[in-house]
Amino acid sequence: LKIGVLISGSGSNLQSIMDACAKGTINGRVVCVISNKADAFGLERARKAGIPALHLDHRAYTGREAYDEALVATLREFDVDLVVLAGFMRIITSVLLDAFPMRVMNIHPALLPAFPGLHAQRQALEYGAKVAGCTVHFVDCGTDTGPIIIQAAVPILAGDTEESLCARIQKEEHRIYPEAVRLFSEGLLQVDGRVVTVSA
Ligand code: GRF
Repeated sequence: LKIGVLISGSGSNLQSIMDACAKGTINGRVVCVISNKADAFGLERARKAGIPALHLDHRAYTGREAYDEALVATLREFDVDLVVLAGFMRIITSVLLDAFPMRVMNIHPALLPAFPGLHAQRQALEYGAKVAGCTVHFVDCGTDTGPIIIQAAVPILAGDTEESLCARIQKEEHRIYPEAVRLFSEGLLQVDGRVVTVSA
């Protein structure tokens, strides 16, 4: 499986997936990493692993569709089978989704459908939720609405700050994102409407 990863920042989830590929847990490899931000630390992580790391600046394009066309062209160049969004802070359009149907995954730091959108951990804290978590899902044309692949829950503890909660959730992100990609790489994910099942 050839995996293309899109990032905007630190790339700790990217790292967890590269590590799982290196260990052989995922039957595949990351063939390119694309960031819309030039200074994303994830680009350095990719270069360190010998993986092509590209900066595609969204501001150089006339709109979301034009930018997504450039993404698709690059992903096709590398013959990508699965597109992994890992902290990619751009809304994607049907241009990307139609090019990779049910082949775009995302991770969101909340138990969807609760707290979609930005600052999900802060939303959960401000709401007074007692359980938070993260969700890996296939991407559809909504924001954080696609079919759910794996979720993990963590407690919200008295005295939690946004930082402490983010850290607790990230530990789970780094476990479930490689696991979701592994299941995909083994052809074990079945999608029926909204519902994703893992075959035995
Ligand atoms: C993660 O919290 C992820 O859930 C969200 O963006 C963050 C990316 O972190 N979508 P990193 O760049 O993988 O370290």
